[in-house]
Amino acid sequence: MKKILPSILSADFSNLGKEIIEMENIGVDMFHIDVMDGHFVPNISFAFPIISSIRKITNKIFDVHLMIDNPENYVERICDSGADMISFHIESTNHADRVIQLIKNKGKKVGIAINPQTSVDSIIYLLSTVDYVLVMSVNPGFGGQKFISYVLDKINILDSIRKEKKYNFLIEVDGGINIETSKICRDKGADLLVCGSFLFASDDKKNTYKELLK
Ligand code: DX5
Ligand code: ZN
Repeated sequence: MKKILPSILSADFSNLGKEIIEMENIGVDMFHIDVMDGHFVPNISFAFPIISSIRKITNKIFDVHLMIDNPENYVERICDSGADMISFHIESTNHADRVIQLIKNKGKKVGIAINPQTSVDSIIYLLSTVDYVLVMSVNPGFGGQKFISYVLDKINILDSIRKEKKYNFLIEVDGGINIETSKICRDKGADLLVCGSFLFASDDKKNTYKELLK
């Protein structure tokens, strides 16, 4: 499975509905939605009302990326707002296994996210239970940053582990994705590529989306 997920963080919020429909029309079937709390990351974005509003205008998959402290306090409401897949950071909680169970109990897909410098070892015992691993390829908090290439090693490691252990998790990469980095990540084994600024800034989104998948 190879997918490009537009990150709506880079959308024009005064036209969010239109931007989502435009993406749908070029063939997008999964959206990446960044929730930031100003604690876990030095930025604040949006949460429940925005997710439930856009849930009404599209049936496509919502992949919600939580960059918040204490995700255990919020994941159930995020599920109820219309998320289909929810990822949270291993660095954000001492209760990762509990958070995974809360999300699974809601019948949603669960992902574990790791910051650029966090090792695969730190999530090794979770790999048999999660649906996807989100590898951050920039420091979380902002769109438009440069891809950090040392994370490629972790994509490789994750891909080897899932082959060896016959695990089913997908590998998602988030941050600094453009045509070049998209291809490099996919060659290393990534399945889901989040793309924010590069795609939304394009004058020809349809063609850019196609190129990102090549
Ligand atoms: C960053 C977010 C990303 C961001 C990616 O903290 O998690 O999803 O929107 O944006 P680009 O593609 O511009 O790096
Ligand atoms: Zn993200």
